[in-house]
Amino acid sequence: MINIAVLGYGTVGSGVVEVIGTNQDSINKKIEDELNIKYILDLRDFPGDPMESRIVHDYSVISSDDEVDIIVEVLGGVEPAYTFVKEALSKGKSVATSNKELVAAHGAELIALAKQNKVNFLFEASVGGGIPIIRPLNSSLTAENITEITGILNGTTNYILTKMTEDGSDFEDVLREAQEKGYAERNPEADVEGYDACRKIAILTSLACGKQVDYQDIYTEGITKISAADIRYAKAMKQSIKLLATMKKVGQNLFCMVCPMLIGQNHPLINVNDVFNGIFVHGNMLDDAMFYGRGAGKLPTASAVVADVIEAARHRHVSIKTYWSTEKKELTNIDESIHKYFVRLKKNIDETTVETVFGRVEMVKAQGISDEIAFVTPIMEEKDFKKAIAQFDSVLNYIRVAI
Ligand code: HSE
Repeated sequence: MINIAVLGYGTVGSGVVEVIGTNQDSINKKIEDELNIKYILDLRDFPGDPMESRIVHDYSVISSDDEVDIIVEVLGGVEPAYTFVKEALSKGKSVATSNKELVAAHGAELIALAKQNKVNFLFEASVGGGIPIIRPLNSSLTAENITEITGILNGTTNYILTKMTEDGSDFEDVLREAQEKGYAERNPEADVEGYDACRKIAILTSLACGKQVDYQDIYTEGITKISAADIRYAKAMKQSIKLLATMKKVGQNLFCMVCPMLIGQNHPLINVNDVFNGIFVHGNMLDDAMFYGRGAGKLPTASAVVADVIEAARHRHVSIKTYWSTEKKELTNIDESIHKYFVRLKKNIDETTVETVFGRVEMVKAQGISDEIAFVTPIMEEKDFKKAIAQFDSVLNYIRVAI
C-alpha cells in the first residue's frame, strides 16, 4: 500500500480526492500497488464528508508517520507550504504540488533537497493546470535547446480579454461580471497585474535553461490599462490582445517578460480563448510545439497533481533528475528587446511630427474613434521606443506588437 496525505481540502484538494476515487482501479494498476489517502490536513472540520475520519488539524501527525510515502501540497502560498514541504522531503517523503508561488520561489532548492533524500518534488500542476508542460520540458523535450516559450498562462485574464473582445466592454465591467460569476477572485490582483503568469513563466524558463530564474527579475505588466478602445483598434487591425508570458533566447541574451501584446491571425496562440491556456514552445531541432487545454479548475488541476503522485509512486527511493539548479540565471534587460509598438496619442499631434520621432509608422483607424491618432511603429529596441514615447505628453496607451 502507498499512503498519501493531502494538505488542504479546498478546491484542488477535494479534486485530488475525487480523481483518486473515480479512477482508483486504473491508478492502482498503473502503480502496481494500492493508493490510499491516509490523511487530509485542514484547519476546518468536515462533518458528514466521506473523508471526515481522515481529517487532521496538526501537520506533525502526518510528518511523523513513517507510513506516509507521498505528500500532496495544495495549500497555495509560500508559507506554511514551504516549511511543510521541506520537512516532508527531509523525512524521505515525496511531494506533489500545484503551488506556483512555492515552486517559483523555492523550486530549485526543493528539487535539490528531494535528490539528497532520494525522493521526488513534482509540480506538473503549478503551470498550465491540467496541461502537461513540466514533464514534457523535463523529459520529452530534453534533446532540445529551447529558444522560446510563449504562453497564455492565466485563465482569468484570458477570459476577461476574450469577453472584452466579444462584448466591446471595458476592463472594469468585465472584471466585475467575472467576479459575480465566480470566474475571477474577489482579490484579482495576482491575475490582472500579471503576477500569476510571471511566476509560471519563471518556472518554465528555469526548466528550459536549467538555472534559477527569479520571478522578481521578470518585467511584468498586467491588463488593467487595456480599454474598450484598444480592443476596437485591435479588431480594426485583425489582431487580438492577449496577456503573453514569454521567454526568448537571442544569442547570449535571455529575455523574459509578461505583458499584454497584440498578436495577428498567424500567431499560434490566436485561438486560445476564454479560460483556456496555451503554451508555444520552440526548440532548435524540434521547431514548434503547442500545448493547449484547461489551465485551471478543480479536476484538470487535480488530475495533474495525481499524475505526479503516480510518478512518485513509480519512482520510490529513486530521484528523477530535474534540470534546474540553484545557480542564478541573469536575464537581459528588456530595454534590449525588439518589438513593434501600437501607440495611441491625443489628436493634437500630426503624423509628420510622429514620423520625425518614430520613423515610418502605419496609421490605424477604428470605427467611432475620432479624437485621437493611433499608429504602429517600425520594429524598434525597447530603449529607443521609451526615448521616443517620452517626447509626447499626450500618450493614451501603448501595447507591444508580437513580431
Ligand atoms: N488564477 C489562475 C488562473 C489559476 O486564472 O489561471 C490557475 O493557476
